[in-house]
Amino acid sequence: MIRVSVVGATGYTGEELVTILAGHRDVEITSLSAIMDKPTNISEVFPRLKGQIDLICKSLDVKEVIDSSDLVFLALPHTISMQYAPVFLKNGIKVIDLSADYRLPADLYKEWYGKDHADLGNLDKAVYGLPELYRSEIKTCSLLANPGCYPTSVILAVAPLAEEGVVELSGIIADSKSGITGAGRKASMSLLYGEIADNFKAYKIGTHQHAPEIMCKLGEAAGREVDVLFVPHVIPTRRGILSTIYLKPKKQLTQVNIDKIYNHYYGEEPFVRYSDEGRVPELKDVIYSNYCDIGVKLVKDRIVAVSAIDNLTKGAAGQAVQNMNIMYGFDEKEGL
Ligand SMILES: NC(=O)c1ccc[n+]([C@@H]2O[C@H](COP(=O)([O-])OP(=O)(O)OC[C@H]3O[C@@H](n4cnc5c(N)ncnc54)[C@H](OP(=O)(O)O)[C@@H]3O)[C@@H](O)[C@H]2O)c1
Repeated sequence: MIRVSVVGATGYTGEELVTILAGHRDVEITSLSAIMDKPTNISEVFPRLKGQIDLICKSLDVKEVIDSSDLVFLALPHTISMQYAPVFLKNGIKVIDLSADYRLPADLYKEWYGKDHADLGNLDKAVYGLPELYRSEIKTCSLLANPGCYPTSVILAVAPLAEEGVVELSGIIADSKSGITGAGRKASMSLLYGEIADNFKAYKIGTHQHAPEIMCKLGEAAGREVDVLFVPHVIPTRRGILSTIYLKPKKQLTQVNIDKIYNHYYGEEPFVRYSDEGRVPELKDVIYSNYCDIGVKLVKDRIVAVSAIDNLTKGAAGQAVQNMNIMYGFDEKEGL
């Protein structure tokens, strides 16, 4: 049994984390915190947790978290996590950060997040928590950078082809659609029901902060630079990301070759389901689950890869718990 705290417990990923951790047999949740006007039972913040967990969520008290935890999940906005992670790490507490603070090299972080990195000492030690690509490094890490939701969906769909060297690594187009919880649980005009319902729009074309994360990690898989045009969209659903990625084969490929590559790459993976023969995944089959469903179809001289995840589970809290399970040698599927 390990003692676990969640900082940022009142946000969307925090809610999902608490829900999953409350049902995890190897975990005791010892503290929950956020920015709180007054301490409040988490089941009052999220009534669906009533009867599952009885714990007060209060304003973050770093010393209390240090004294009561073996592991801390930081479900905080980017630029905030890197203020707290070094304090916990210095006190021997492992950290799983759901924000972007430890996912990119310092120069790219500054370019895309507009701020100098405040914890260069730990940035190099952070392990990128995509189990399907980095499982062995995850097992021994103390600081885990949980991947972004869009990057999880795009990287998992493209990595087998990039690593195998069978597709062009420039000119890849990733067209992703996300439900609105991807933007977090904060008030903003663009997130109003009246703006989202019955609507469907692209945003941040060429400027979304997940683009460098996608290209860096696919570059590591390919062993070469990878160029992706990433176009995110918002769809009028609460949860889920569906990514459609367009690639060009470098050599003659058949559907059978492609199926073989993906089945080889993901055949043993507990949370990736590859659909043979170009069958394409749908959001309804993955929401509220930790699965990433992938289907890939060869169309003349193009490959179209489609992936579907739940942004709050495989795209955030579920993947964070999967990573915790790997770090502590628990059953990788426990709680999920
Ligand atoms: N939403 C997704 O689908 C998703 C997917 C992957 C990764 N992520 C990343 O995960 C992180 C959390 O996302 P989210 O969607 O859960 O965000 P969110 O709904 O906006 O929640 C943020 C949480 O952080 C707390 N918080 C903010 N500033 C704080 C501070 N200075 N001290 C203590 N607590 C603070 C907030 O508390 P109050 O509620 O009291 O303000 C809230 O509990 C973000 O970095 C996000 O980019 C999100």
